[in-house]
Amino acid sequence: MSNKLEGKVAIITGGASGIGEATVRQFAVHGTRMIVIADIQDELGQKVVESIGSNQCSYVHCDVTDEEQVKSLVQSTVQTHGRLDIMFSNAGTFSTSAQTVIELDLAGLDRLYAVNVRGMAACVKHAARAMVELNIRGSIICTASTCASTGGDGITDYHMSKHAVLGLVRSASKQLGVHGIRVNSVSPFVVGTPLLCRYVGKEAEEAVQLFEPMTSLKGVVLKAKHIADAVVFLASVDSELITGHDLVVDAGVLLK
Ligand SMILES: NC(=O)c1ccc[n+]([C@@H]2O[C@H](COP(=O)([O-])OP(=O)(O)OC[C@H]3O[C@@H](n4cnc5c(N)ncnc54)[C@H](O)[C@@H]3O)[C@@H](O)[C@H]2O)c1
Repeated sequence: MSNKLEGKVAIITGGASGIGEATVRQFAVHGTRMIVIADIQDELGQKVVESIGSNQCSYVHCDVTDEEQVKSLVQSTVQTHGRLDIMFSNAGTFSTSAQTVIELDLAGLDRLYAVNVRGMAACVKHAARAMVELNIRGSIICTASTCASTGGDGITDYHMSKHAVLGLVRSASKQLGVHGIRVNSVSPFVVGTPLLCRYVGKEAEEAVQLFEPMTSLKGVVLKAKHIADAVVFLASVDSELITGHDLVVDAGVLLK
């Protein structure tokens, strides 16, 4: 038990599964006063709350593609818990197929953008508004990806969406610094979550093994907890002077 996030009120979107769920658990370990999970998988979200305890964690159904739901998520958090210190905007979805730009399904791109770009922007917007109104020097963290810094052979729409997340983070960090609000992103390489398993059609361990040859750092397997630890760092006073930064957690995949 540590007190890095003691007294803080946090929202974690996509907190019912994968990287979001691991971050909910690490936030609990680090003493966060209240963690609000926002997701569309109600049963999974409630189970995470039960395992942590309703005195420290709650669940709100929120589809981030609907701005009104995001606005009401932030408002209800502030009304119930008195403040909002941390927004981890993490909810995301993946390409439906490995399409090149020539094959690009633009309707699919719109659906992906609705979550990964528009939803991400809505969460940053409403969290920032609340923090400014309440005069809180908060921390906003978005989940990008190593795909935000590279081109890809396929999944063009996903690469595009994660590049957009970096644009959002860099602009928001410049604009919100005057209010003492920090905005950063975390960029994982592949992690064996349901999102990855669905796409490659394999169980977590086997799915991650497919990508192991791309890493420089050997003898470690990237887990959701590694990403959660990076998010705790960006949320806490340990990163007090860091804003507009993309913290890559990739076992050396992007090394040149
Ligand atoms: N798993 C990886 O390899 C990997 C790598 C890089 C980046 N990411 C990013 O990490 C983030 C989390 O993904 P994950 O791997 O944990 O996947 P996941 O599928 O386990 O979790 C994603 C969560 O987001 C929720 N979600 C999806 N659409 C939503 C919506 N419209 N409104 C609210 N919640 C919604 C899902 O219900 C789910 O609980 C995503 O942004 C993803 O792009 C994942």
